[in-house]
Amino acid sequence: MSRVYNFSAGPAALPLEVLETIRNDLPDWLGSGMSVMEVSHRGKDFVELAARADATLRELLKVPDDYSVLFPQGGATMQMAMAPLNLSAPGDTADYVVTGSWGKKAAGEAKKFCDVNVAADASDKNFTYIPTESSWRRSDNAAYLHYTPNETIAGVEFHFVPDGDVPLVADMSSNILSRPVDVSRFGVIYAGAQKNIGPAGITLVIVRNDLLGRARQDNAHLMIWKSYADSDSMTNTPPTFAWYVADLVFQWLKNQGGVEAIAETNARKSSKLYAAIDASDFYTNPVAVDCRSRMNVPFILADAAPTGNFSKSRSLLAWPILRVIDRSVVCEPPYITLSAKRRLMH
Ligand SMILES: Cc1ncc(COP(=O)(O)O)c(C=O)c1O
Repeated sequence: MSRVYNFSAGPAALPLEVLETIRNDLPDWLGSGMSVMEVSHRGKDFVELAARADATLRELLKVPDDYSVLFPQGGATMQMAMAPLNLSAPGDTADYVVTGSWGKKAAGEAKKFCDVNVAADASDKNFTYIPTESSWRRSDNAAYLHYTPNETIAGVEFHFVPDGDVPLVADMSSNILSRPVDVSRFGVIYAGAQKNIGPAGITLVIVRNDLLGRARQDNAHLMIWKSYADSDSMTNTPPTFAWYVADLVFQWLKNQGGVEAIAETNARKSSKLYAAIDASDFYTNPVAVDCRSRMNVPFILADAAPTGNFSKSRSLLAWPILRVIDRSVVCEPPYITLSAKRRLMH
């Protein structure tokens, strides 16, 4: 068997132990004579799996009791619509801090359902920094403030949680479970699964219970968080296979020493990569040092026009940087994009 080091955009690598467990379990899950994809989601075994996934996730992130953990489908993109539909009434204003393309997309989606005030926008410097919090133009009565703690494409990560007394809504798709987080500071945390949780097809939403009553009642049942909270996320047939893999990943994370231990690994790996880029005179990382992402590291030519295609031979010049990094960091042969390259370390 040959496994590559997969640092591509899109779905991320799963731990080999998890894949091996899946392979062993697949034809005959828990002696049922069926795969997990074929059993009833209402059966005892699957209900136990769902309860364990909830409990392990709560333990990993120290989720307070007054929060619900939901597993809808639809990915993070669906949550970009569910946030305004569950937290605002038509005519309400929601604040958005836009530090990258995902935050921009979330603000664009919310505009269909409520008034959006872009409180800060880092597009003036090509999403390479986080505007200082004191410069944000927040509204007086915002229904909530939305931001993206890790912008996957720009490689910009918040190393602080914004202040304020309106509910904070965070799209943590690309840094959930990569570091400890004080869940009690947030109204809602959401994340697509395919980076740090498991396969695409399931989504994680952590929502403070007092916010569950705010949904628009003319909303579709599946677009209301409370529908999931009231049904243990079985409001309709759930993505059982993705949920099963998420449960295995949560257990794997726990066995690694939990989120605290994973955070140390991520800090070590990313600082090696940044050190190599900083030492290079060929590549540079364009992101302000205080908000460099531990998950996604873009690097561009230090001294070249910012547009145009790399030739394959030029892209191979990336290897001197990559060779100094330990094997757990480096991955597939360099892929060719426009002038930017990126290593994803999920
Ligand atoms: C920060 C962030 N938000 C949203 C998305 C979109 O997620 P999904 O494809 O699950 O809708 C991604 C995908 O990579 C992401 O990184």
